[in-house]
Amino acid sequence: MVHRPIQQRTPLFAYSLRNVTEAAALAAYDWVGRGDKIGTDGAAVEAMRRELNALPIEGTVIIGEGAKDEAPELYCGESIGLPRHRAKFDIAVDPIEGTSYTAMGLANALSVISMAPRGTMFDPGPSYYMDKIAVPKEAKGLIDPTAPTAEKLRVLAKALGKKVSELTVFLLDKPRHKQLIQDIYTAGARCSLYPAGDVMGGLLAAFPDSGVDMLLGTGGTPEGVLTACALRGLGADFMGRFNPQSEAEAKVIAEFGLGTESWMMMDDLISSDQVFFCATGVTDGILVDGVTVEGNFARTQTLMISGPYGERQILTSYHQVEAD
Ligand code: FBP
Repeated sequence: MVHRPIQQRTPLFAYSLRNVTEAAALAAYDWVGRGDKIGTDGAAVEAMRRELNALPIEGTVIIGEGAKDEAPELYCGESIGLPRHRAKFDIAVDPIEGTSYTAMGLANALSVISMAPRGTMFDPGPSYYMDKIAVPKEAKGLIDPTAPTAEKLRVLAKALGKKVSELTVFLLDKPRHKQLIQDIYTAGARCSLYPAGDVMGGLLAAFPDSGVDMLLGTGGTPEGVLTACALRGLGADFMGRFNPQSEAEAKVIAEFGLGTESWMMMDDLISSDQVFFCATGVTDGILVDGVTVEGNFARTQTLMISGPYGERQILTSYHQVEAD
């Protein structure tokens, strides 16, 4: 076994980036299980913005909480950090990925951030929904996104040295996926169906031994770009194609100049290997533990990924907190 020299390994920057998602997760803790998605999101956004502005970078929010007028904080196009700093980054955030999970007090809610050098992150404009395919690095470049589902599974199984019957595909459990789920069953593979959280689905598809081999289906476009960034860092593959779910969305993305025909490959979505990704658990989940509070300390767990070598850590931190 040969270790990479230390200076080629995970840059220390990932350790400061984690402050952003940890602050958001800690702020969301008070809202877990209180049935208030808007309150949860508001608390997380405010905390996230405070920490983003403390980062030693000049950042542009490519994916935030929407247009400026709808989202006074962390709006798309907003500048954060230190103006004119030489480290310039594009930023995508989802202060709470799984607001429904958080509001309902369910597992698997995360606070998420992705960063890539300026000009290397795709700006999806007003698109809400995209079709997604994520596979581990063994299948990178091998999956034809236009092929029938059975063929995709056959190619993936071959790349992983498995039988199709040994594959598990993560999908959001939505009526729009009825046919896709049936096609997966017919091909002989398993489905892992979750009501929300396809960033987690993409990460599970990329991680070896997670029990998930692939992400398929239609989910949020912002979540798609966030996932692509993490998977780029892991050396895995991600493809996406806009799939508007309403006439209004179709109109607005056509006006923005985005087509719905062609698939965007990893290089179209994130064109640099110098990526950073952090996800902190809000509630306990498959990837990381959620926030817990004991006495004067709150405990968080954060998954940190940084390119280009796909190294990752899960960091458990204890934060001193004051009682209300
Ligand atoms: P939350 O609203 O609970 O935050 O849901 C997040 C999410 O499930 C994403 O993971 C996914 O990409 C998107 O919502 C799918 O949107 P929809 O639930 O509208 O199909």
